[in-house]
Order: sequence, then C-alpha cells, then structure tokens
Amino acid sequence: MPSSLPSVRVTRRLPPRTEAYLREVWGAHLNTDDVPLSETDLRTAFGSHDVVVCTLTDRINREVLEVASRRTRLLANFGVGVDHIDLAAAREVGIAVTNTPGVLTDDTADLAMLLLLAVARRATEGGRELSAGEWAGWRPTYLLGTCVSGATLGVVGFGRIGQAVARRASQGFGMRVLVHTRSAPSEQLLEQCGARRCESLVALLGASDFVSLHCPATPETRHLIDERMLRCMRPGAFLVNTARGDIVDETALIEALRRGTIAGAGLDVFEHEPRVPPDLLALPNVFALPHLGSATAASREAMGDLVLRNIAAFIAGTPLPNRVA
Ligand code: GLV
Repeated sequence: MPSSLPSVRVTRRLPPRTEAYLREVWGAHLNTDDVPLSETDLRTAFGSHDVVVCTLTDRINREVLEVASRRTRLLANFGVGVDHIDLAAAREVGIAVTNTPGVLTDDTADLAMLLLLAVARRATEGGRELSAGEWAGWRPTYLLGTCVSGATLGVVGFGRIGQAVARRASQGFGMRVLVHTRSAPSEQLLEQCGARRCESLVALLGASDFVSLHCPATPETRHLIDERMLRCMRPGAFLVNTARGDIVDETALIEALRRGTIAGAGLDVFEHEPRVPPDLLALPNVFALPHLGSATAASREAMGDLVLRNIAAFIAGTPLPNRVA
C-alpha cells in the first residue's frame, strides 16, 4: 500500500463517472484514445504505477506480471471474468487482483435470453430479408421457428449469471430447467431457480432444447463444448454462449451448424475476439452480438464503482471487497 496517493494507470476508456473520479481524486493516467495497450506498454505500466485498472482485452500474462522493477501491487479488473489474467503468476509476485461481480448479472442474463429468443425465432433470417427489401409479406408458412415457452433449457455453470438465467427461463417462460455444475448447489437454491441438477454434461445436452453456457473460462473448460459434445445435443437444439468464446470449439461449432448437428447458436462471445470467422457470421442459423453482455450504462457505471471501491480499500489498507487473487 503506498503511503501517499497511489499512481493509477487505466488501460481502456471507462464510464465518465468512473474516469472523472479516477482523474480528480487520484490523478489517474487514463487511456483517452481507447487503443488497447501493447504488451510492452503493459509491462511499462506494471513498472511505473501502484495500481493498474485493466479489462478483458488486456492479456495480463506472466511476462507482464514478472516485469523487473515492478511497482504495481493492485490489479483492479473492470469485469467479472478474469481468464485474461494469469492469477497464479499474480499471486507469486504479490499483486492483488480484484474484479466486479454481481452488478452485471441481470443484464448479462437478459442478454442470454435475447440470444435464446432470437435464435429460436429466426431473427437473423427475418432481419436479413427485411433489410434486403426481400420480404414478400406475412404468410402462414413463413419462417417458422421453435417454441421457447415450455421447452427445456440446460444451464451449464450455476454461478450468479447461470442462476439468473434459470430464474428467467423457469419463471418468465415456463421452461423446464436443468443445470450442470461442478459443485452441488443446495436444494433450496435449485428450487428458487426452478431448476433440477443433471449429474453429467452429456445427460444435460441430450435432454435440452436450449443449452446456455455460464461457466468460467479455465484450462478445464477450454473447448468443453467440442465436436463430441455438440453431437450429444439434440438435432433441433440451440446453443447460447454469453460466457467466453473458448469454452466452445468454434471450428467444430461452424461444422455442426452447417451439417445440422444442432439447429442454431446465439453467440455474444467468440474464441478469438474481436476476430469472428466470417463463415460463422454468414450462417442463417446464427444470431451474433459483439460481446454486449454487460453493456448497459447502469451496469458499466456499477462496475466502475466497484473498481473505485477496491482501489480505495487498497489505499486504506483494508480488505479488498472483490479480491480474486
Ligand atoms: C464480461 O464479459 C466480464 O467478464 O465482465
């Protein structure tokens, strides 16, 4: 903890309220042009600032964290996912890491439902015909989709966002909800979310009309949904991903969507963001958004407030409210 004001470096543009506080109270070094920092710039930041505020577009690897004459003691991540940070290396070199959980749960769960509904109701095909001026008008057999109400949703990962999606699906859409998660959730939590636990991922995939991914991206969950798992899904089923792109083998997904192994996919995240395979985007049975899960003004401001709270605790030498390493 620094004795005087800490030197704070911010890697991307943040909401105005967050930036104003960072600048006015701590004289933070902001990134006003919003260009992501290179690895060299990140190493420089860790060598010259007490606090670095990063986000998911920054690859905070061991080389960055182990920079010689390191000054940084707090890495305050703007976002809940921390798969872009080498947490083990941060622990080893004594850098505390915080994130921003809780405040983006509802917005991300809402977006998962948006993807689910859009892909079930063929929004991509309808939207494309309309924009191309090709719509021939209403007719009884036109663009028939899949019923969402009453269908079965498989939720993979049952943290805050998975639970919020389960609640929306069971209470809002009368869906039957199955969950697969590493740890066993309490019966009470399952009941509150209108969900039932499925022992195996394969069983969940085979029983679901929609599968929504909500597990963290870790080495264990990389390509969790691969060619074999896609084949375990029902031919008429849809995959929804608002978690992280590399949980799904994107090449296998494209093939499965082409061949009709599954019926469609609603995607907010991609394996190599911001690059998205044109072959994936061209498919009529894909509804895709550019990583907008937490993108509401309210969520982003609340995420900024959590970043500020963690920095304030670091300065005061009190426990960090959202410490992950
Ligand atoms: C967004 O994807 C986040 O991790 O907060």
